[in-house]
Amino acid sequence: MRKRHPTGALQNLAAFRTIRGGGKAQGLLQLDAYGLFRAIEPRFSGPVRLQSMNRVIRWGILGTGQIARQFAAGLKVLPDAELTAVGSRTTERAIEFGNRFNVPRRHGNYEGAANDPAVDVVYVATPHSCHKENTLLALAAGKAVLCEKPFAINAAEAGEVIRFARQRKLFLMEAMWTRFFPLMAKVRELLRSGALGEARLLMADFGFRAEFQEEGRLFDPAYGGGALLDVGVYPVSLASMIFGPPTRITSLAHLGRTGVDEESAMILAHPNGPLAVLTSAIRTDTPQEAILLGTAGRVRIHRPWWRPITLTLSREGCGDETLEFPLIGNGYHYEAAEVMACLHRGNLESETMSLDETLAIMKTLDAIRAQWGLKYPME
Ligand SMILES: NC(=O)c1ccc[n+]([C@@H]2O[C@H](COP(=O)([O-])OP(=O)(O)OC[C@H]3O[C@@H](n4cnc5c(N)ncnc54)[C@H](OP(=O)(O)O)[C@@H]3O)[C@@H](O)[C@H]2O)c1
Repeated sequence: MRKRHPTGALQNLAAFRTIRGGGKAQGLLQLDAYGLFRAIEPRFSGPVRLQSMNRVIRWGILGTGQIARQFAAGLKVLPDAELTAVGSRTTERAIEFGNRFNVPRRHGNYEGAANDPAVDVVYVATPHSCHKENTLLALAAGKAVLCEKPFAINAAEAGEVIRFARQRKLFLMEAMWTRFFPLMAKVRELLRSGALGEARLLMADFGFRAEFQEEGRLFDPAYGGGALLDVGVYPVSLASMIFGPPTRITSLAHLGRTGVDEESAMILAHPNGPLAVLTSAIRTDTPQEAILLGTAGRVRIHRPWWRPITLTLSREGCGDETLEFPLIGNGYHYEAAEVMACLHRGNLESETMSLDETLAIMKTLDAIRAQWGLKYPME
């Protein structure tokens, strides 16, 4: 049976919570039809009014790994989302995943799930090296697609997929989930309003300690291994959201035993001077903080900034103010809600994570890797 959601898209207004510091609440969040708080931000997608609240969006997932499980759990928060199908390379894993997440249609291959008539949108949750092929498979079946980050191995692959989606007039989005948290909408609002003055410098890192596994997807070049494509893409994407595409890039990396980057440092320069100083790692745990400095103030997004819940705003004369944006669910529903809102409105891409920006980010990643001489076997 399909789930229905009764009424209009935007309901209550709620102030987000100021947890430390002297100031009063800094803004408003709207509670949307999914019960999710969205910061009010008119220029970007922001709060969206769905045209029809009666249509359930039916999801299919390709892959049954770690992120597929997280996403399946995240979807449960959305009353208008139905996880109808899963595709796995083996029937056993499809059944196991189906039992665990109550997915009625289980396919022992990706073709079955992509072509399943009971699916509206496919979520690609396979290793980076499979993204292009799996996304094209779902698009060829006429499905909308949400594809995990990194969107592809390189800009050439990304461009091919984007062109195909545009030709076929199908929705496509990179699953850069961090973008869709209410806290990130607040950051965009601070930038737009000029509350920080002119944004000049971003410092952001994402590194975690993984066990070395020669053949694991994190270290194996055949999977597009290395820190940059796995976690470095987050700070690169954040810099892109704040400053746009870089005009100059300087970067160094330590390439480990398998030839992929285990630690890296990048400096990106942007038109009129703003800099982003970014690091990524897969053998060391880094602070996982993002600090944005403007001429009139700064914002610190607390650890882990890539699942952003808390920020501290520091402005001259105002002291430090810490704002908390409580998490509902596990956070993966924010990006899913964006996809569903776009589908309801008939939009073929998200304004918050546009395909042109995804392509520009892939070009930046390519340029960084070129400085290290890191090429993958499929390139
Ligand atoms: N947004 C986030 O927070 C986040 C977090 C983690 C990962 N990710 C991204 O999600 C993607 C998957 O990461 P993951 O951590 O979920 O990986 P994972 O646990 O290894 O799962 C990947 C799944 O893809 C399928 N697959 C298809 N071809 C494969 C192949 N040749 N080798 C291995 N698995 C293959 C497998 O499912 P079947 O065997 O059932 O087909 C496997 O379970 C990556 O691109 C990663 O960057 C995103």
